Amino acid sequence: MALLNIHTFPDPVLRKKALPVTDFDQSLDNTAQSMLETMYVSSGIGLAAIQAGILKQIIVIDLKSGEEDISLREPHIFVNPKILKKYGSTVSEEGCLSVIDFRGDVERAEKISVEYQDVKGNIHQMEAEEMMSICLQHEIDHLNGILFIDHLPVLKQKMVKKKLTKLAMANA
Ligand code: NI
Repeated sequence: MALLNIHTFPDPVLRKKALPVTDFDQSLDNTAQSMLETMYVSSGIGLAAIQAGILKQIIVIDLKSGEEDISLREPHIFVNPKILKKYGSTVSEEGCLSVIDFRGDVERAEKISVEYQDVKGNIHQMEAEEMMSICLQHEIDHLNGILFIDHLPVLKQKMVKKKLTKLAMANA
């Protein structure tokens, strides 16, 4: 599997909208597998295709990504995911492979009901809570060009974005 290059803030590709997947072919499966590999080597628990510059509605998540024993991993692939319902609210600290060296508290729905397709195109529904709920909301945001730092209070958001932009320019 080819490793993918992860784009980081303020790369404009992260602001684009991903398009629905319509072809459930081998190349979709290959893309999802490459995304999982890229996520594992980057020590992330979630990755959206758009972070690799692929404008498709594909997300991978593995909350056990950090397990040393790889037989304990729990890879999930979500194609064309949609949030059907949201319940409650919760605040937790988030980070992102596209936002280097910054973590921050974000408020999100506590539980969600999601509809998605697998790589074969079969439709599934799922109730997600705790970490899976937060991770799904974070990744689905990516598909709409939204980053977790967009949810920070306005002043903090301005500060963080300025700092991250400076850092990116310094490293360019
Ligand atoms: Ni992210």
